[in-house]
Amino acid sequence: MNRPIPKLGSVKSPGELSDKFFKNYSHIAFPITSKVFEEKSEIVIDLPKNEVKALEEIFNINFTQEIIKHGVGISGKPGELIDIPTTLSSGKSDLIRVLLVGVGSRSDVEIRKAAAAIGRKIRASKSSLLSFLPKNSHQTQVHLIATGLATYSWSQKTGTSPETPTIYVLGDFESAVKKSEILLEATWKTRDLIHTPSNIKSPEWMASQAKTFAKSSRTKSAITVKVRAGKELSEFGGLRAVGNSSKKNPPRFVEVSYKPRGAKRLPHVVLVGKGITFDTGGVSLKRPYETMTAMKSDMSGAAAVLMTTIAAAQLGLKVRVTALLMLAENALSGTSQRPSDVITHYGGTTVEVINTDAEGRLVLADGLAYADKNLDPDYLIDVATLTGAATLGLSRFYGAMYTRDKKLASQLMALSDFTGDRIWQMPLVDDYQIALASDVADFNHTADKFKFQGGSVTAALFLEKFVGKRKWAHLDIAGPARSEVDAGENVKGGTGYGVRLLTEWLANL
Ligand code: BES
Ligand code: MN
Ligand code: ZN
Repeated sequence: MNRPIPKLGSVKSPGELSDKFFKNYSHIAFPITSKVFEEKSEIVIDLPKNEVKALEEIFNINFTQEIIKHGVGISGKPGELIDIPTTLSSGKSDLIRVLLVGVGSRSDVEIRKAAAAIGRKIRASKSSLLSFLPKNSHQTQVHLIATGLATYSWSQKTGTSPETPTIYVLGDFESAVKKSEILLEATWKTRDLIHTPSNIKSPEWMASQAKTFAKSSRTKSAITVKVRAGKELSEFGGLRAVGNSSKKNPPRFVEVSYKPRGAKRLPHVVLVGKGITFDTGGVSLKRPYETMTAMKSDMSGAAAVLMTTIAAAQLGLKVRVTALLMLAENALSGTSQRPSDVITHYGGTTVEVINTDAEGRLVLADGLAYADKNLDPDYLIDVATLTGAATLGLSRFYGAMYTRDKKLASQLMALSDFTGDRIWQMPLVDDYQIALASDVADFNHTADKFKFQGGSVTAALFLEKFVGKRKWAHLDIAGPARSEVDAGENVKGGTGYGVRLLTEWLANL
């Protein structure tokens, strides 16, 4: 959409390293780490000794001296980066930058930090990177995706647009490269959707994007997209109550399905995404008003489940995936819902609306009930920027996961560090159920009784009422869906949280 995605690749080692091999790259990254040697810690290049010697000759530098030059501040810790401008000793090259990058003990988190630091260095340039960091295909995937994502930017500035780098790693890792390309593209496009301002991304626009992505996704099995609007939404009481607040941008229900060809009985995963294209809070207007500008990202869940489904199809995963995008604008107008309204959700459950700013659970409830009734899912997972309370509990780097299924919880948690979409399990506390009692409907939609606090927990308890007996998990991503600063592989703005985690989980199912 906005900027080309960096090209990824791997380059087989030539056996013996020579000047010629490096001629086409502007940046070469080597791993450094600290090793304890005779009780003193020393910073070393984390490569075989003979290779280090050959490299010193080729680049005309003495690594040890370069490290010493950078002084005591350098410790080899992950993400630390020493930038050495040099030329090939043959003189047959432009300026080359040798990057020495700390990899610590090579855990996934450490490799990702190092890779992101490199990405930040080459972003918005025509740089061509060759990295010696990864030692296997697992590390290659972590590296390529993080480096790619760290170069992300989105803007509608006029004038020349920023350049795009290319990112190669040393080794024979073709299949890891392919997988990384798909995951990078899916996360990148999720970010594009989140960054797009709300005067452009109406629910209708999101639905048309889903169609465009499905068509252009180069997959063997077709992805089908079904869009419902207007009268077709008569049973979706929550989606209508929220979305009809905007006459100009009315709600949409989008069903994106991927069904691999041939295979018979496959697990069916239904992903439900909160797709509020802008959240003013409605009549219960958001205050202070500055908190509203971030609310163009309130459709991050819907964007993530859409792009996860596309990625699953591109990878040809042996699993059926259906994404339900619950798309609505939560506007303030004469057709906004009011606190004290009673709405009837898909499937018939009635709910008393307490605070119109708790709109996410209203649109999700319809999606969950629809999935339970019509789609027979083996797993039902919703993804939503649901509550500020989740951010209070876990801050910005972790998503909050709610589920009663221990196996599902441990599967997702186990992928947290590898994928970079970090997640932590929170409890569904039954003692708080009474906070959702209503005097006039089946339930209140927010926990306004007993002052339990724990707004993220009670929101999850509310959603659970619509999932029937399904294996269900709820991911409250209000924290990690958006970053306030450039940090790690994230840049300020939408992060694309959830795509890597869910796709990898589907791949392992
Ligand atoms: N979209 C917000 C949650 C949110 C807040 C996401 C901050 C990202 C950053 C959601 O619709 C909302 O307004 N939730 C309310 C619920 C409350 C009224 C029960 C909240 O968290 O304050
Ligand atoms: Mn809200
Ligand atoms: Zn919201």
